[in-house]
Amino acid sequence: MGALLEALTEAALIAEGGRITGANKAARALLGKSIEGATLDQVIAHPAALEALNRAGSDDQSVELTGLGKSRRHWLMRVAPLEGSTRLIRFVDRSEARAAEQMRVDFVANASHELRTPLATLIGYTETLREQSDEVDPATRDRFLSVVHDEALRMQRVVEDLISLSRIEAEKFTTPTDAVALEPLIDRALESERRTAQKRGSELVRDVAERLPPVAGDSGQILQLLDNLLSNALRYGEPGTPVTVSARTDGSMVRLSVSDCGDGIAPEHIARVTERFYRVDTSRSRSLGGTGLGLSIVKHIVERHRGRLSIDSIVGKGTTIHVLLPIAVS
Ligand SMILES: Nc1ncnc2c1ncn2[C@@H]1O[C@H](COP(=O)(O)OP(=O)(O)OP(=O)(O)O)[C@@H](O)[C@H]1O
Ligand SMILES: [Mg+2]
Repeated sequence: MGALLEALTEAALIAEGGRITGANKAARALLGKSIEGATLDQVIAHPAALEALNRAGSDDQSVELTGLGKSRRHWLMRVAPLEGSTRLIRFVDRSEARAAEQMRVDFVANASHELRTPLATLIGYTETLREQSDEVDPATRDRFLSVVHDEALRMQRVVEDLISLSRIEAEKFTTPTDAVALEPLIDRALESERRTAQKRGSELVRDVAERLPPVAGDSGQILQLLDNLLSNALRYGEPGTPVTVSARTDGSMVRLSVSDCGDGIAPEHIARVTERFYRVDTSRSRSLGGTGLGLSIVKHIVERHRGRLSIDSIVGKGTTIHVLLPIAVS
């Protein structure tokens, strides 16, 4: 029985009546070194768990628990009757599944919220235009219509980004293998940001190594990645300062980097900016047109390419985002 218990990866106990007669290593790590011989009440100081153990009859039982022993993780306790009053009690760590579920719930809530705000604006303005059309002068009418148009465009961007994200996620197990030359993609990305850069007085610097090898990738997605990084650098960089795109070989990978001179991202936010809808300063990013989806798209693209993403940022100085993509095998 002892060997069987040890073979289980999850924490497991054998109890006879209310006393623990066996425990594996994982159970001792979770509940304490000397639990064998102790009573369940002494060891499992968790009201819901004890209640379930006291009521456990002849059927399998399971209860969800948070906070057990010294751990704040989330557990599923399963009690299976063996012989007589002997029971097998197992603790399955459900923290990851729980976090994933929470992320799904948050995602739907955030997406709905992100669409509801512009929708409310659309309804408000169109109602005014329709119901008070006699009182609205042409200049005001034009202003209202351009607000309506801008908000509709914002909704369209959010929806397109959401579709992109789900497409990239759906393909995440098929690693792209096309040999993709980066130079033309960098040029296209720079070209599409040229007007924005001019408006902000930012010079776009292209620093691409000669004879750059092609990467194994999906050219559409790499372009999307570059567009997102460049638009962030321009959006969050200080007007009048340069934005640099560089590309060079780094071992068996190509390192693509986009740098700006801006406010930077504080260390506590760096790990979170790639989460969907996460913005450091929600109202500031939103007023600049940001939804918080760009970097999560970038992260998913990098993951699909089996690449690496890292963010170097100094608050008050600026940010460099590095993407490593594998060189194509020829
Ligand atoms: N280069 C940067 N400098 C400073 N902060 C940045 C930079 N890039 C991203 N951030 C911060 O990270 C957040 C998330 O970026 P992300 O690109 O995912 O979303 P967004 O730019 O707000 O919106 P979207 O890209 O969907 O239009 C931004 O809101 C901003 O706060
Ligand atoms: Mg962005």
